[in-house]
Amino acid sequence: MTAGSTGRSVPRLAARAADLVGSIIDSSTSLLAAQTHDIVQFAMGSPADEALPVAQFREITADTLDGAALSYGSSEGEAPLLYRLESYLAGTPDRTSQDRMVITSGGMQGLDLANKLFVDPGDLVVVESPTYTNGSATALAYGAQLLEVPIDEDGMRIDDLVDLVAREGRLPKAIYTIPNFQNPYGATLSRERREELLRLAHRWGSIIIDDDPYGLLRFAGSDVPSFGQLSPGDPLVFGVRTFSKILAPGLRVGWVDADPSLRQVLINAKQVMDTCTNVPHQYLVAEYLARGGLDAHLARLRPLYRDRRDAMLDAIERHLGDAATATRPEGGFFLWVTLQGRFAGIDTRELFEPALADGVAFIPGPALSPSERFTNALRLCFASSTPERIDEGIRRLAGTLERLSSGSPVG
Ligand SMILES: Cc1ncc(COP(=O)(O)O)c(C=O)c1O
Repeated sequence: MTAGSTGRSVPRLAARAADLVGSIIDSSTSLLAAQTHDIVQFAMGSPADEALPVAQFREITADTLDGAALSYGSSEGEAPLLYRLESYLAGTPDRTSQDRMVITSGGMQGLDLANKLFVDPGDLVVVESPTYTNGSATALAYGAQLLEVPIDEDGMRIDDLVDLVAREGRLPKAIYTIPNFQNPYGATLSRERREELLRLAHRWGSIIIDDDPYGLLRFAGSDVPSFGQLSPGDPLVFGVRTFSKILAPGLRVGWVDADPSLRQVLINAKQVMDTCTNVPHQYLVAEYLARGGLDAHLARLRPLYRDRRDAMLDAIERHLGDAATATRPEGGFFLWVTLQGRFAGIDTRELFEPALADGVAFIPGPALSPSERFTNALRLCFASSTPERIDEGIRRLAGTLERLSSGSPVG
């Protein structure tokens, strides 16, 4: 301890604390909860309230909450969940085996484990631009240097990746990608680019951190083969998965799918973090899977989210016209809006507060880029609101934009 300006001792932080950059996305949860007026919520990537299987979870809790569920669990995850998950995934593009899986506290812990295992201070880590900045923040927390690679509607641009790595003069230790319905852009990495990324990873000796919370939420177009299907059992692919978007984020249950040679070190890493993932919630999910509810649940969600995407695209066209363009995701939760024409000069960080006062919340573009690019863009989550509320939210946003662009007071 050293003496602060008041004469009292202040704690001396470790150097790594400076690399803990925090999350504007997560902070918006508390900010929004503190508001007392009506707000249309396009900020957080939360499932719709009506998409949460509350009644089934209540029933299952009553059946599964016993002494075993309230005790310490195994660090790798509870046996019934590992077993049920393996069976469920056998019918999906994420087919895997129990020796590759460790249950985690949501996708975030999977990202933390990936970076903890592979990233040393100063290592180069490739991220998409824009990206899910909680993921890039995790790499920063381990001292990574980030290389932002542009994306388009087919995902990460591989030609830019090769050029930027060549310019950097050293190879990336890890490549962080969100291959399906990317957060925040909504793009899906094409099959060709997945194959090229696999080839590059092998040439460079880089790990691909394949973060895919949304893959099972495709509501249009056709499936693109997963990394696991293109390169089965590839030791350079580290899969990060979660139940947060397909069941409920409050569960904090996810899993990693990684080479069996990593299993023990993953368990060791997890033991010094949280001993084990929340045990009652693992039983809850295991029993939910055992009762066979997930496929029917996903079948209900897909058209719900497709209608909401359509409602948002229609509302953008109606209220913003040619002053904005939007991506058209084939699944997931988000679309990406770029302001143009009379709104092109508006910095969405400055739009945030007046828009919140007008009753609509979003994430400004620069919060989704480690170097704060995309000042004229914003991320909108279409999943959480009904089509009527979506229309109202975009109408409010358009009103705030009009006032900001005409320079009149905003209130
Ligand atoms: C791309 C991506 N990865 C990881 C996560 C984190 O998932 P979880 O809430 O399960 O930690 C999210 C949540 O928004 C996400 O969008």
